[in-house]
Amino acid sequence: SARAAQDTSRFAFTPIAAQTDNTVHVPEGYSWKVLARWGDPLFSDADGYDITDGGPVDRSDRVFGENTDGMETFDFNGHTLIAINHEYPNRKINLPAAQEGKPANANDVKKFQNIQGVTVMEITETPEGWAVIKDSPFNRRIHHNTPMKIVGPAAGHDLLKTEADPTGTTSLGTMNNCGAGKTPWGTYLTCEENFNGYFGSTDETASYDQKVADGFKRYGVKAESWNGYEGFDPRFDTSKAPNEPHRAGWIVEIDPADPESTPVKHTGLGRLKHENAEVAIAPDGRVVVYMGDDERGEYLYRFVSNGTYQPGGPTEGLLNDGTLYVARFNDDQTGQWLALTPESTGMEPADIAIFTRLAASKVDATTMDRPEWVATSPVAVEAYCCLTNNKNRGVKPNGGGDDTSANPVNPRETNHYGQIVRWRPAGDDHAADGFDWDLYVMAGNPTVHSDAYAGSANVNEGNLFNSPDGMAIDSTGLVWIQTDGDDGNEGDFLGNGNNQMLVGDPVTGEIVRFLTGPSGSEVTGLTWSDDLRTMFVGIQHPGGTWPDGEGLPRSSIIAVKRDDNGILG
Ligand code: FEO
Ligand code: CA
Ligand code: CA
Ligand code: CA
Repeated sequence: SARAAQDTSRFAFTPIAAQTDNTVHVPEGYSWKVLARWGDPLFSDADGYDITDGGPVDRSDRVFGENTDGMETFDFNGHTLIAINHEYPNRKINLPAAQEGKPANANDVKKFQNIQGVTVMEITETPEGWAVIKDSPFNRRIHHNTPMKIVGPAAGHDLLKTEADPTGTTSLGTMNNCGAGKTPWGTYLTCEENFNGYFGSTDETASYDQKVADGFKRYGVKAESWNGYEGFDPRFDTSKAPNEPHRAGWIVEIDPADPESTPVKHTGLGRLKHENAEVAIAPDGRVVVYMGDDERGEYLYRFVSNGTYQPGGPTEGLLNDGTLYVARFNDDQTGQWLALTPESTGMEPADIAIFTRLAASKVDATTMDRPEWVATSPVAVEAYCCLTNNKNRGVKPNGGGDDTSANPVNPRETNHYGQIVRWRPAGDDHAADGFDWDLYVMAGNPTVHSDAYAGSANVNEGNLFNSPDGMAIDSTGLVWIQTDGDDGNEGDFLGNGNNQMLVGDPVTGEIVRFLTGPSGSEVTGLTWSDDLRTMFVGIQHPGGTWPDGEGLPRSSIIAVKRDDNGILG
């Protein structure tokens, strides 16, 4: 029984085996159900929206978007709201008629732009399970053309000005929304990750160096986009709008309770390939935001506000007036947050914000194996970051960056399995500049290797996984880990099966498998209902025909419950 299991372990279920089929598995005594799939109408004017040929461009901004990622739930005056990222399109699925999924016209681009961004929607639990409330006044799609405000140290800077926005304080849209975050004042944070790939130059006469400005290089903005936007939307053509890439790569705050509100890009949180935004409040009330920059050989960041948060008090400036820091991990398992200031970097505050990566290179920070989600514990003053993998040890990212050789926190030469680092801030204060760190888990495969590639002692034949990415810590302190890795289930990955969600007890170190995704998918995004009796889990880019069993695969959010409606952490 669940009770007996709890007597010996904090996990109230029997762990499941690795799987390779095209569906979702959860432990005995639990079940799952789809809450929302790409193309599901959020408004009744989109009823009958048909995805078989990728869906009509008309009303493509009235349906649930593609490739769900980070998400958070909000309880607002008795309404359950959920905000969900839609990271990028599955080009061949969304444009099945187009050559290699490349947009052939402005309508194709518009469709891509509409199915990405963020959904806010109201949901409710019915006797048949959780459902979207169609036409709720809270339902909203935010996409690549939604007006945004730009605030903070870079707002109004020349590098953010365009012909369409000579003030440098407004922009259109948010893109490549990866992980998420939630503020204690009830807003949603959505994080712009691989924004670089949306821009390109149509100037046939320009040289590569003319097309790829110096400021683009470290961020990987290239001469050509991967999605062909620049051919049909001049905003993404860097020969016409050379500053537009500076207006992406930010963290955006959205008020889910006010569908008329304008989303806000907070330049104080720096410009990088933002994975997620984990917010913690220091003992003195200062706001701390932990942020990974997901690129091989880039860094882990922290923001600390100058002002303090008081429940119900003003929040203006709390995500902009403050200091950015970058992490250094020392050999002796201590570490420091290094401030990025005019004194430490020789750069102006606006330049530190716009070219955060260049600022970080001026101090003695530690290059990382792709920092993905950061999670803090509600029961202990500690934080965790997934370092997903690194196939380019020693290679300088985008021709810039720093010493990317192995280091104490990223110790393996070829790192195709990943690890999770944990740190405990000095004085139990997330705003303190010192910390102690350890490796919570080194993923590996002890059935194939007996050296460092076997992984840490808490990795065994029963919980094999690779490439930890999404992560959240529940109210009891259990660490939920989601993977985005090699699901080929052979060679070094034999026994890993499909991507999955595991849960770990950080006190004992034990990690067990809770959920497996359908073949081809990544499991990413996790949040709980207010009563903690439902977990919402994101299934991104599934293969096969999941979840419908026929037709095109559809990325979806699922609701996971205990059959006895018990609490899930
Ligand atoms: Fe969008 Fe680094 O994952
Ligand atoms: Ca991710
Ligand atoms: Ca990933
Ligand atoms: Ca992904």
